[in-house]
Amino acid sequence: MSLSDSLLRKLADQVGTPFWVYDGALIRQRIADIKAMTAAPGLQARFAMKACPATKILAEMNAAGIWIDAVSGNEALRALHAGHPGGNTPPVICFTADVFRDNALEVVLKHGLLPNIGSPAMIDQLAAAGYKGPISIRINPGFGHGHVNTCDTGGPSSKHGIWHEDLKATAAAADRAGLDVVMLHSHIGSGPKIQELHDNLTRLADEFAALIPLFPKLTAVSLGGGIPHNYRERDKQTAVAPLAELFARCREIIVKAAGREIRVEIEPGRYYVAPSCTLVTRVHDVKRTQANAKGNGATFAMVDAGFVDLVRPAMYGSYHHIEILGKDPAQGTEPIVVAGPLCESGDVFTRGGADEELNPRQLPRPEIGDLLVLRDAGAYGYAMSSNYNSIGRAPQVWVNADGSAELISRRETIEDILKPETSAPIAL
Ligand code: LLP
Repeated sequence: MSLSDSLLRKLADQVGTPFWVYDGALIRQRIADIKAMTAAPGLQARFAMKACPATKILAEMNAAGIWIDAVSGNEALRALHAGHPGGNTPPVICFTADVFRDNALEVVLKHGLLPNIGSPAMIDQLAAAGYKGPISIRINPGFGHGHVNTCDTGGPSSKHGIWHEDLKATAAAADRAGLDVVMLHSHIGSGPKIQELHDNLTRLADEFAALIPLFPKLTAVSLGGGIPHNYRERDKQTAVAPLAELFARCREIIVKAAGREIRVEIEPGRYYVAPSCTLVTRVHDVKRTQANAKGNGATFAMVDAGFVDLVRPAMYGSYHHIEILGKDPAQGTEPIVVAGPLCESGDVFTRGGADEELNPRQLPRPEIGDLLVLRDAGAYGYAMSSNYNSIGRAPQVWVNADGSAELISRRETIEDILKPETSAPIAL
């Protein structure tokens, strides 16, 4: 592990806390794992860049021949900025969305990106904008499951994709608009149990196979992302070989049904980056509340990161492993609530379980000045950080295998926060 405690301490002295630090060697290992899962001919991997869109990471993906799934005009522009080529031969950047917002349609047109449409009216919107190229259709197959209900991306409660029973009408509409459907896509959920992923993808491959006659110009299908990360048992991670077999088997089902070559894609986000990043914070105080008729008292470790940095615990009750640098849990622990600097009582990293509010963690007793780290923060960590409370995003650091480090984004300043503000009159 190249992120030793002493390295984290030195970095904290250099860049201040909180900060995000990525283990470059581990990201490269994860990229190599995905390459191994898609090594069989006819398989192609993308990176769902929403998980971690830093240029440094996108450039690593480009160097490794990993294509991109982008969900906004600006995500696509970030991928282009990092060196991924535009155009759709091959469609290295695929644009997946249910709504064309802001510059999305313009970026798709200008850079010739493959639009993966998740809503029927997008066909008319593309045609009205003069688009004549190929399209992909995102399907809601009627089933799917993620780590929380809001991460289910298939089934009646999911807004994503075109309902599987409406595809005949969609195929006809694409035909009328002169748009060739070259790809079918589905993402059945983020963070499923591994057996659910196996079952749902096999079911999805059968569903795609049955749809092939409707789409004679089809050259590819995408099975989406969803390779889970084990946040609680960090030494028990998803094995590569069974997934390589699963993806190859899905491809066999589809190619057999088509009777011709069909590219099969996957587009994980979390798997590439989740374990590589640690959010490093400093303990600013340790204080207590006393029990009364309304509830139990708690010991709070007050740290300088909050849900503006890592929102997953506050938003989903997600678990992130916590350590206090230099303190061995074997020497004794006590229940600690780890809380941040924000103006809400929900700004707590130790949440979840039966009691949604506070779920104290057994930790060594922290002291003022200790560094407290939150592990596995690489996926949907920095990517979901915000400027609530006008704090400014924390810096991101990349550490190479040889222990050298580089700042890949600096701490945001008041100037960054004020930049979009204006007093421009609007002509009405
Ligand atoms: N493809 C599509 C179309 C997606 O919507 C997603 C994730 C992925 C691929 C990548 O899924 P992954 O391999 O990362 O599971 N913020 C949540 C996760 C939201 C996922 C949204 N879509 C979290 O922090 O758990």
